[in-house]
This record gives sequence, C-alpha cells and structure tokens, in this order.
Amino acid sequence: MRRKPYVFITRTLPDSTLEPLLDLARISMWEEADKPVPRERLEKEAEEADAILTMVSDPVDRELLEGAPNLRVVSNMGVGYDNIDLQAADEMGIIVCNTPDILTETTADLTFALLLASARRITEASDLVRSGNWREWGPLLMAGHDVYGKTIGIVGMGRIGTGVAKRASGFSMNVLYHNRTRRKETENETGAAYAPLDRLLKESDFVVCLAPLTEETKQMFTYHEFRLMKRSAFFINASRGGLVDERGLVKALEDKQIAGAGLDVFQEEPVDPGHPLLSFPNVTVLPHIGSATVETRKRMAQLACRNIAYVLKGYRPKAVVNRVD
Ligand code: DGY
Repeated sequence: MRRKPYVFITRTLPDSTLEPLLDLARISMWEEADKPVPRERLEKEAEEADAILTMVSDPVDRELLEGAPNLRVVSNMGVGYDNIDLQAADEMGIIVCNTPDILTETTADLTFALLLASARRITEASDLVRSGNWREWGPLLMAGHDVYGKTIGIVGMGRIGTGVAKRASGFSMNVLYHNRTRRKETENETGAAYAPLDRLLKESDFVVCLAPLTEETKQMFTYHEFRLMKRSAFFINASRGGLVDERGLVKALEDKQIAGAGLDVFQEEPVDPGHPLLSFPNVTVLPHIGSATVETRKRMAQLACRNIAYVLKGYRPKAVVNRVD
C-alpha cells in the first residue's frame, strides 16, 4: 500500500486552516504557537516529511534540506522567504512557496500605522498616561510632526509599497518611490513618482523600507544613507531587519541625523531588550506584526496548506518562488 504523505507544520495552527490537507496527508504540528520549533526536532521531522510548512523564524538551510530525502515542498507562511536557501532547494528539486497578495493590505495598514505612530509619538504618549506621569495638559506636550502634505519615499514598490502609496495619497502626501524597475502602472494608479535613491533620501520626510531582503539589498541602509536624510525625517522599516546596518542607525539617531524611526523588524528577532535601538524614545518598536491580524494570518495558513496540497496532488501552485518545475 502507498504510504500517505507526511506534512510537518512548525507551529500550532488553527485546525480550520488545515482543511486542504486533511484527506491527503498525515499531519503533525509543533505543539507551540508562539515558540519556534527546536532545530533538532525540525531536523528529525524533515528526515521523514514530504512537505514542511515553515515560518519566517525557521532557518531552512542546505543542511536541513540535505537531511530530508522525501521532501517535495517547503511552504513558507509569509510573503518573504529569505529564511530559505533557495539555491539549495533548486539544486535538490524542492519546490518553495510563499503566501503573497492576501497579506498586502494588512501589511500596508501596519506600515502606515507605524509611520503615524512614529510621527505623532503614539506609544510614547500612551506610556506617559499609563505611567501616571501625565500631570497637566501642555501646549507642546507630546507634540509630534504632521503627516498630511509631507513627502513619503517608498523604497521597494511591490504590492505592499503600492498599498502604502495609496494610503499616503489619502493623506495628501507627495509620494516618491525607488525600485529596481520602474512601475509605470503603479505611478498611474497612485500618482507616485520614481526617484533615484539619493534624491528620495534627501527629499522625503518619511523613508519607508519595504524592499525584500536579498544579496543586493542586504544592509542597504547604512550611516551614509541616514546622513543623506533630512534631520527632520523618520525612517520606517516593515520589511526585514537585514536591510539595515543597525549600528549605522544607532549612530544616526545619536548624532540626530534623523528625527526618529519606526521598526517592525530587526536583524535578530526577537530583538534583545538591551539593544541600543530600544533606548531611544523616538524609536517606535513592534514585534514583527506586519501581517498579524486574525483574518490575514488564517488566510496565510490556509494558503500555505493549499500550496502543499497542490504539490502533493501533482500540480504546481501559483505561489512558487524558485525555479523548480
Ligand atoms: C512576511 O509575510 O514576510 C511577514 O514578514 C511575516 O513573515
């Protein structure tokens, strides 16, 4: 009798999201929703698995893939897939999928929320109230900076960047963008204007990083880039921490080269509570929650399961990100 395919899922997902796999496979899940699966357990599961459903926090490297003789698909629950060694997967004929589109608007909402929170000092002001230190109303108490009518510079004009540009035009902002390739359609749709990176950095009041993490974009924001920004400008990152040289950002904040930052992502996650970036009151920090709404996370889990189901049935899912046929 043919063995039923085995699927390992690296976090506990709601049962309702597993539906596409129920008749097709034996499924097992790491027993925790909020803690990553230990490496030894992942390696052990990979030895048997036909498919693994992974998260941004699971490094899927060559060594893991080499120890997985039956593996046909790695389905990452996220639009980013920089945690996976694509080259190794290509060489081994393993399909890698992601979950694009369904998280676009949710992540654009959070990116814009982070921009607003940074400009208007929302978390700082909330902390003032909660700590009991709000003694009097004051004309400049917790005064922030305007967002409407300012210039936003979006670095990485993909689907999420386009969503942020649409929100920005609702705030009557002037929208600049920088991208590997020019996006004429997006320009027409959002009124965004293409700018070389240097110009974007010099002219924007909010520089928003949404480019994917690749060999080309790694550490693309260094002290040099922050120094090109206006001293009154904010840097917002909702992509990956790896795009930023964090030491350069700390120095730019110390030297007051920029007015502040809003960060949903860090080089190392979870970020160490003693990290110097967390010591600045003008840095708003979040725990990588760009796509974290109940609705969207469920849709992402379902799509990640559907991607596996396609492969197990012998079809090619739409969301394949590597070159395997
Ligand atoms: C994504 O979808 O890439 C989010 O950052 C979560 O991993």
